[in-house]
Amino acid sequence: MNIENAKNKFGILLEQQLERIKKIKATSAPINFAECKPIIIGVTSGDGIGPSITKASKDVLEFLLADAIAEGKVEIREIEGLTIERRAAENAAIPPAVLAELKACHVILKGPTTTPQAGDEWPNIESANVAMRKELDLFANVRPVRVPEKGIDWTFFRENTEGAYALGSQGIHVDDDLAIDFTVATTQGCERIIRAAFEYAKANGKKRVTAVTKSNVVKTTDGKFSVIAKEISKNYPGITLDEWYIDIMTAKLIDEKRRTQFEVMVLPNLYGDILTDEAAEFQGGVGTAGSANIGARYAMFEAIHGSAPRMVKEGRDIYADPASMMRASAMLLSHIGFIKESETLTKALDICTISEREITITGRDTGCTGDEFAAYIMKTCKSL
Ligand code: IPM
Ligand code: MG
Repeated sequence: MNIENAKNKFGILLEQQLERIKKIKATSAPINFAECKPIIIGVTSGDGIGPSITKASKDVLEFLLADAIAEGKVEIREIEGLTIERRAAENAAIPPAVLAELKACHVILKGPTTTPQAGDEWPNIESANVAMRKELDLFANVRPVRVPEKGIDWTFFRENTEGAYALGSQGIHVDDDLAIDFTVATTQGCERIIRAAFEYAKANGKKRVTAVTKSNVVKTTDGKFSVIAKEISKNYPGITLDEWYIDIMTAKLIDEKRRTQFEVMVLPNLYGDILTDEAAEFQGGVGTAGSANIGARYAMFEAIHGSAPRMVKEGRDIYADPASMMRASAMLLSHIGFIKESETLTKALDICTISEREITITGRDTGCTGDEFAAYIMKTCKSL
């Protein structure tokens, strides 16, 4: 590829991004679940350990929503085909027929999906998570991390459709030596995620929102994020905005005195990806953390970890820990207005994974299976 070709390709990318901005501007008001009859929950298992932990989570959802399902208020719809085999065969991040089925739902519970990289046994297709976040415009990736005994109560608002991810699979090899990737920030994209973080802070009595950037070095895109954060904060008088650079922020999360002062963090996509894995580690690892991907029309809920193909190869998928998908299910329940059920599930998860631990998951046959864990969760829910 020569410079002219690269310029042409860049031109196309710019046009696509300007189109995306138009779509964001035209976004309608958020969905009102009280008017959805029924609320359709799509459940798609992904691959690797996905089918095992998704089944366990679906069982729990069906248990908690039994009345609503019987009354026709909620429908749980299984959506097949979001597997690496089918995605590879169709050379698509999400096969078009599967995407159409997902778009017919209101909310989605998604199992982990394999994300190939160059040199893998699979074609180097785009991540299904990333594609779904873009396709359904799920701009807010909300990731709570709580460790009460250490005073940690963080909620991360990771921007989910822009930054280094927006064109992550559309970089340009200008020639054999020069490769270029792009980072995208739009006014509309920054505004909506930063506003979501402040609105959450306001609704939950939080006094501080921390913007995490590297705006002293990545001056244009992170710079925009930082300027917009300052602008938006003016509309929230009781809430203080502070700004930290991502490098020192990763350090401060392990500073026991400092870290308890953080409450709500808002950050561009890649920093959010990295920092939330670090944060989840304090809570017991990525296997313990759920993630909500929220847009105006759609929302998708998932674990923050991957599909662990190694566990399947070693025949250990039945022992995979469904806790993070169940945490995601609790977020789903609260998103669609089933607050009581969401709280019950959260309490049961705290009892079963922290305070009581009658049986434990180890990821091997030294611990219980995902199905046994689901039964333990349901038994605990009943007792509450
Ligand atoms: C996450 C994951 C994904 C991401 C991967 C699987 C593409 O790490 O949800 O944090 O990078 O966003
Ligand atoms: Mg990640």
